[in-house]
Amino acid sequence: MIARGIFALFVAAAFFVVVPKAPAQKAGNAEKGKEVFEQCGVCHNADSDEKKMGPGLKGLYKKAKLANGKKPSDETVRAIINAGGNGMPGYQDLLTDEERDNLMAYLKTL
Ligand code: HEC
Repeated sequence: MIARGIFALFVAAAFFVVVPKAPAQKAGNAEKGKEVFEQCGVCHNADSDEKKMGPGLKGLYKKAKLANGKKPSDETVRAIINAGGNGMPGYQDLLTDEERDNLMAYLKTL
């Protein structure tokens, strides 16, 4: 009886051995983001702030404010990319989360 009890305890303990999962990496890859940006390059300059179809994006994150009056941040820039507007297409469904993360990382290097 005692031996069975100990055995049961041993089996129960084995269930509590959990293998910790590595946290998912969320930081974008700017190099890959540059490729994603090719579809934005039709309307945006990356190497100057000169206007093409849309405003040049050089120094985007250093601007005091965006055309919509908001301060450039991950949140506000991501919102513009997703929603578009005023002649810019919305990219909500056109990009995967990974592509968007990479694109954001690239925009920060401009
Ligand atoms: C068909 C042309 C077109 C394409 C393609 C396009 N945009 Fe735009 N974008 C615009 C226009 C026009 C504006 C200005 C909108 C406004 O004044 O409100 C703009 C505004 C922006 C802004 C805000 C800039 C500021 O200073 O306020 C960002 C950031 C931006 N676009 C990023 C992107 C990214 C990233 C992509 C690619 C995923 C992209 N755009 C694709 C036309 C485009």
